[in-house]
Amino acid sequence: MPLTRALQSKYDAIIIGAGASGLMCALTAGYRGRNVLVLDHANKIGKKIIISGGGRCNFTNLYTEPAHYLSNNTHFCKSALARFTQWDFQALVDKYQVAWHEKTLGQLFCDNRSQDIVDLLVSECRDAGVTIRARACVESIKLNDSSDYALVTNIGEFSCQSLVVATGGLSFPTMGASGFGYQIAEQFGHELIEQKPALVPFIMDQAWLKHFIELSGVSSEVVASCNGQSFRENILFTHRGVSGPVILQISSYWKPGDTVSINWIPGTDIHDWLKSCVKQRPKAQTATILSEHMTKRLSQALCVQGQLRLLTDNGQKLVALYTSTELEDLAIALENWPLKPSGTEGYKKAEVTLGGVDTAKVSSKTFESRIQPGLFFIGEVLDVTGQLGGFNFQWAWASGHCAGQYI
Ligand code: FDA
Repeated sequence: MPLTRALQSKYDAIIIGAGASGLMCALTAGYRGRNVLVLDHANKIGKKIIISGGGRCNFTNLYTEPAHYLSNNTHFCKSALARFTQWDFQALVDKYQVAWHEKTLGQLFCDNRSQDIVDLLVSECRDAGVTIRARACVESIKLNDSSDYALVTNIGEFSCQSLVVATGGLSFPTMGASGFGYQIAEQFGHELIEQKPALVPFIMDQAWLKHFIELSGVSSEVVASCNGQSFRENILFTHRGVSGPVILQISSYWKPGDTVSINWIPGTDIHDWLKSCVKQRPKAQTATILSEHMTKRLSQALCVQGQLRLLTDNGQKLVALYTSTELEDLAIALENWPLKPSGTEGYKKAEVTLGGVDTAKVSSKTFESRIQPGLFFIGEVLDVTGQLGGFNFQWAWASGHCAGQYI
């Protein structure tokens, strides 16, 4: 529901991108009395908010702190996250009596629908006197004689003192994502940190799928580790590989060629548990005891593949028959199970984009370019990427709010 205020030719600030960060920036600046125009090329505003969190928008995380963000400069996000916190956004949600619940690990979701979040942002923008236009494509940006930004668009020509790039990342092109923000950055001399899809499912090769495709839809709680990071959540088998929160999380740390280590029985000393099985259930088959910790289908499938196939005799080996060395090997194999993805599902299915506008030349206080006065970058277009769980929206709110105080 774009605001239908009449267009003018000159604004204090123009924000490109009516997503999470752009709308937050607009309403903050609008309440300061700034005359703000928000332009979005998509047919509707806030599209990613609407589809987020499975339609229930995981709008923040109670445990938001800088450690949950990836960036070439891990300090950059600190100031904004401290100045606009998860409690601040929660207060805004409560102002509109949007019902919410904590799902797990501090993740706050709408009880009803993500659209409630878009509606509250639009309502705030309306109260703050902001003008928003969807289906607005920016064709060119230039500096005019008075050092204002002059924009040529399909809905008219506009100028402004402050230009805010809030165009997000490359993931989900069907939702309006584009690389336009990176183009603007380069036009004005900014450098980019290489982008790649993150929070994304893995695809596996044919040989692997031959064993595991039948598990499609099965999930299990595991610990996944790669490049010094570990997460404990569910893995989900898919038709093309693996997904689920633990895989999305670890995908942000994975590089092509890396092997991810899976612990199938997290929170348990597996060797001790196997030794107790030898004492208590010596005649049980290996696949049977494993199914105490996972579904039967999963324990069977694990036992007929790779190192476990030989160790467990296709899952049929009786627990009593293991030598102490074999028992140790079995514990290690279950704790450190190698998963070697052949790739990721790419931007089509990635929740976010890693990398983006290098923060080295952007102020962490104002979000203004250090090399181009009046140009601002906020949200996901910057090289700041949150882990799964509401951290990306919190970054969008925080960076949008902080920039909104300076544009
Ligand atoms: P955002 O993507 O929100 O907005 C960018 C806007 O710019 C869009 O409206 C786009 O149309 C517009 N735009 C792009 N190019 C343009 C151009 N050339 N001209 C004009 N406009 C242009 N995060 C989280 O914390 N909790 C969650 O539950 C989820 N769930 C989730 C699900 C799915 C499927 C996806 C894809 C992503 C998530 N995310 C998430 C991530 C979250 O959606 C994302 O990090 C934020 O929306 C980023 O906010 P921005 O404002 O930076 O970009």
